[in-house]
Amino acid sequence: MTRHLLEIDDLSRDELLHLIALAEQPSPRRCLDGRGVGLVFEKPSLRTRHSTEMAVHQLGGHPVTVQGVEVGIDTRETAEDIARTLSCYHAAIGCRVFEHGKIERVAAAASVPVVNLLSDEAHPLQAIADVLTLRQELGGLEGRTITYVGDPNNVLQSLALATGMLGMQVRVACPASHPVPELMLDRIAASGVALEVFDRPTAAVAGADAIYADVWTSMGQELEAVQRRHDFEGFTIDEALLEAAGPDVIFLHCLPAHRDEEVSAAVIDGPRSRVWEQATNRMHAARGALLWLLEGAAR
Ligand code: CP
Ligand code: NVA
Repeated sequence: MTRHLLEIDDLSRDELLHLIALAEQPSPRRCLDGRGVGLVFEKPSLRTRHSTEMAVHQLGGHPVTVQGVEVGIDTRETAEDIARTLSCYHAAIGCRVFEHGKIERVAAAASVPVVNLLSDEAHPLQAIADVLTLRQELGGLEGRTITYVGDPNNVLQSLALATGMLGMQVRVACPASHPVPELMLDRIAASGVALEVFDRPTAAVAGADAIYADVWTSMGQELEAVQRRHDFEGFTIDEALLEAAGPDVIFLHCLPAHRDEEVSAAVIDGPRSRVWEQATNRMHAARGALLWLLEGAAR
């Protein structure tokens, strides 16, 4: 059976740890030697495109990237036919899509592994980079606490699954106007992760080892940006909030960031910020995921 990585809970805890170990290998086997990986982006990307293309290169392969508008997913041809076509040329496929259901259709039709490069529900490669960063910064994750502040979105779902499966206490602070969706709560609970939900950030960060932010307006929600800036007032991560957490707390953000919206410039550009370590780890995460999908996964 071909395995795919559409969300962190496609992996068991042991598989996640195996993938992380592969990501941490300094000189992995060049398992893509002479082969390609097809990458399709329906949304903009800086980190994901560059880190994935470089990961393919480091494994001896060749990435071929196209934008969604070039191939016309479900307009020029169906997502299924695109998956079947890319499977003729490539050892793996990566897709960034709006609707999560679309990448599920790609995976169902592909005969090679498919990795989710972000959908409206999930961002698993980001979460793997986040746990690589947390391990580097905190050592063991068991019993440590991470607090996500802001919009309960795709990044939160994958982060909560990954950190919770590795034994962290996971908290989220979001306004009552943007509650954690029931489906997300159910999915996280089904993985055995107990997400603690707060409606104000200060109590949520007390004693946290890491505080995490993402944008308030995700790609595709741009028309809601003004309303969202209003809705998330009071949820900016600033130096006072870091102080409420404690002196050793680190700050994480998947990027891109909007300074003085979800995070103050003083925090993201300050001494507690580890956002560039996270960005670096995106490449290691992509390499680990490809290695696991191509060689490590039980079939
Ligand atoms: N963090 C992240 O996925 O960045 P990009 O959208 O630039 O790829
Ligand atoms: N939640 C953001 C993450 C960007 C990396 C979005 O989906 O746009």
